[in-house]
Amino acid sequence: MGWVDAIRDHGNLLFIHLRDVRGIVQVVFDPRISKKGYEAATGLREEDVVQVRGKVGVREKGTENPYLTTGSIEVYATDLEILSKSKPLPFPISEKAMVFGEELRSTPEKVDEELRMRYRYLDLRRPSRQSILFKRDRIIHSAREVLRNHNFVEIETPFLTRSTPEGARDYLVPSRVHKGKFYALPQSPQLFKQLLMIGGMDRYYQIVRCFRDEDLRPNRQPEFTQLDLEASFIDEEFIYQIVEELLATMFAMGDISLDTPFPRLAYDEAMDLYGTDRPDTRFGMRFRDITDIVKDTRYAIFQKIVSQGGVVKGFCVRGKAGQLSKNVLQNEYALKIVPSFGAKGMTWMKVIEGKLQSNIVQFFAPQEQQRLLERFGARDGDVLLMVADTSKDLVNEVLGRLRLHVAERLHLIPPGRYMPVWVTHFPLFEMKEDGISSQHHPFTQPEREDFDPSDLDDLLTLKSRAYDIVVNGEELGGGSIRIHRMGTQRKIFKALGLSDKEAEAKFGFFLKALEYGAPPHGGLALGMDRVISMILRTESIREVIPFPKNRRAYCPLTQAPAPVDPEQLEELGIRITAEGSGIEWAYATEGKPRDDSKRREPRVTREQVLHVAKLARLKIPEEELDAYANDLNSILDYVEKLSELDTTDVEPTSHVLPMRNVWRLDEAVDSEKAEDVLKEAPERMDNFFKVPRILES
Ligand code: AMO
Repeated sequence: MGWVDAIRDHGNLLFIHLRDVRGIVQVVFDPRISKKGYEAATGLREEDVVQVRGKVGVREKGTENPYLTTGSIEVYATDLEILSKSKPLPFPISEKAMVFGEELRSTPEKVDEELRMRYRYLDLRRPSRQSILFKRDRIIHSAREVLRNHNFVEIETPFLTRSTPEGARDYLVPSRVHKGKFYALPQSPQLFKQLLMIGGMDRYYQIVRCFRDEDLRPNRQPEFTQLDLEASFIDEEFIYQIVEELLATMFAMGDISLDTPFPRLAYDEAMDLYGTDRPDTRFGMRFRDITDIVKDTRYAIFQKIVSQGGVVKGFCVRGKAGQLSKNVLQNEYALKIVPSFGAKGMTWMKVIEGKLQSNIVQFFAPQEQQRLLERFGARDGDVLLMVADTSKDLVNEVLGRLRLHVAERLHLIPPGRYMPVWVTHFPLFEMKEDGISSQHHPFTQPEREDFDPSDLDDLLTLKSRAYDIVVNGEELGGGSIRIHRMGTQRKIFKALGLSDKEAEAKFGFFLKALEYGAPPHGGLALGMDRVISMILRTESIREVIPFPKNRRAYCPLTQAPAPVDPEQLEELGIRITAEGSGIEWAYATEGKPRDDSKRREPRVTREQVLHVAKLARLKIPEEELDAYANDLNSILDYVEKLSELDTTDVEPTSHVLPMRNVWRLDEAVDSEKAEDVLKEAPERMDNFFKVPRILES
C-alpha cells in the first residue's frame, strides 16, 4: 500500500512508482497478467493511495533503475485497489526519475517555499523531507542517550507561566478564569530549571519548545526547540565537557567529526580578532591593530582619527591581489560596501614585488610601510584592508562584516569544515539606550562579587561567567554559571536599577527560593533547530522544523495567527483597541464584527477559469478547474501580501537591457548571416533567440 509517486504509460503496459515512507518500488500493470488491474491502473493519478497485489520479479537487464534501492526488481500486479484519490497537486512531489538518465524530478528547492509550507503535508511526502525528520529524531535520540549516561533526568516545565527575561518579547495567553490577567509562554525554562536545582534535582535536561516574539532572521523562529540543561555543584569545565560530548555525538550522526576539547576565546579577544562574539574560525583574516604604526603618518585620515583617540585596524587577504582589482577595491569596497556597514571609508593596499601599492601609499613613510608589511605578515599578492574610526567598537564591527563579505565573495571558506569555539568572559552588563542591562540574563554569576552596584564604570568592566558555543560563525548555544546567593542577586538588581519592590513583583517567587539554600549551579541551552540544520546542511532552520512559520511569524498552513470570535474575546474580557486590527476596524466602522468568512471567499471561481480558458482557446480538464482557480487565488493572496513584505535586505531585481533589433530593418535578413549569429542559440524561433521570460519588478 502506498502513494502513486509517478506513472509511465506505454500504451499496452503501465508502470507506476509506488511510494511509502520506507521507499519506492516499481509496479507493472500488464493486461496479459490482469486486464482488470491494468484497466483500473489507467485511471490512476499521482498521489492516489492504492493497494497492489502482485509478484515480485527481477527486472530485465538494462531496465534497472539506479536511483532506487529496489531498482533491480519490480512487482507484476495482479490486483489494484484504489484506497483514496488525490486532487491535482499544487506542485510536483515525486523526486525519483522512472527511467535511468531521465532528469531527476522535482526538488523541493525549486518550489516556492510559501507554497510548500501551505501544503506542508504534501511537501513532507517527499523522501528528502522525510529523511530530515528521521535524522532529526536520530540526532535528538543520540543527545538523550549521552545525557542519560551522565545521569541527567528529563523533566518538563510549564508553558503557561510568567515572563522569563531572555531579551525578546513574550507571547501572552489571556486567562478566562482570571480576567485581565495573562500567562506568558516561556522564552526559555530558565527560572524553572534553576528552581529544579534549588529543588535538589541536580542534573536536569529537557528538549523543550521556547517562544519568543522577536524580529525574525533566517536562523530564528518564533517557537523553536532547545536542548536545555542545568546541573548543581559544578563549574564551567563540567558544562564544557558535557556539551562537547553532546555536540560531537550529534554531529557524528551527520558524519561530521568534531575534535574535542573545543578551543576557547575570551569575548574581548573575539571582538579584537574577528569583530564579533560569534567568530567564524574556519578561515583566517584576523585583525591587526596598526594604530601605533600610523599615529604620525602624513596620511591625513589616519592621522586625524588617531589624534582624536581613535583606532586603525585591518586584515590581510592572502594572495588575492589578482582578484581584487583597484577598481573593485576603490569603487566598490571603499565607496559602497564598507560605508553600507557604517564606516566612513576603507583604505586598501596591495603587495606587489615586495612593495605596497595603492592610491594613497605615497603618504606613508618607507619605514611605516615596512612596519605595516611586518605587522600583517604580508607577502606578494596579498591585499590589506584597513578601517579607521574614533570608535573602536565601530572599527571592529565593520571589519567583522567586511571579513565575512570578502570570505564569501572570494570563496575563502573551506567547504565541509566545522569549527566550534567557546566564547567566554562576556561583559556582565551592556549599555543600551535606556540604561544598563544584562548581556545574558540577570541570573548570571559575575566573575567577582566585590563590585559597587552604583558605580557605572565598575559595572561596565565586570565580566560574567557566561559562555556561548559558536560553530562556523553561528551561535548554537549559550549559558552561564548562575548566582546562587541572594546578596549577589540583590546587588545585580540594584545595578540594573530594579528596586526591591520591582524585583519582588517580577521574580518574587524565584528570589524567595534563593533564600532557602540554593546550590551553586549552572547550565546551557542548545538551539536544536540550528544544530540539526547545520548537521544536515539545510538552507534554513525552517527545513528541519516539521511545521515552521514563515519569516513573518505566520503559518501559511493553518493561517495562524488568525482573528478570533468576538464571543471568545468577550469571554476573556478583552476588547481590541483602536489601531491596527481588522476586528477593531469592523467595530469602529460598522458597529459589528467584520464577517471574515466573506473576505476569504475565492475571488476567482471555476466559472471564471472556464471563461478565461475559452477566451484563450485552452482546454482545461474538469478536474483541473479547481486547481487553476486555487492557484489564481493564491497568486492574488500573494500579491496582496507583497505590500506588507519587509524588503529591507532584498536586493533589487536586476533589469534587462532595452531590446534592440540586430538586423537592419530596411534590409532583408541574409539567411547565412542569421545562421551565423544564431548558431549559439540554445533555442530559436525563426530568426530570433528564444530567451526565458523575465518578470520585471
Ligand atoms: P539563549 O537565549 O542564548 O539562552 O538561547 C539558547 C540558544 O537557543 C537558540 N535560539 C533560537 N533558535 C531559533 N529561533 C530563535 N528565535 C532562537 N533564539 C535562541 C540559539 C541560542 O544559542 N536560558 C538561556 C540558556 C541558559 O542560560 O542556560 C537561553 O535561553 O541557538
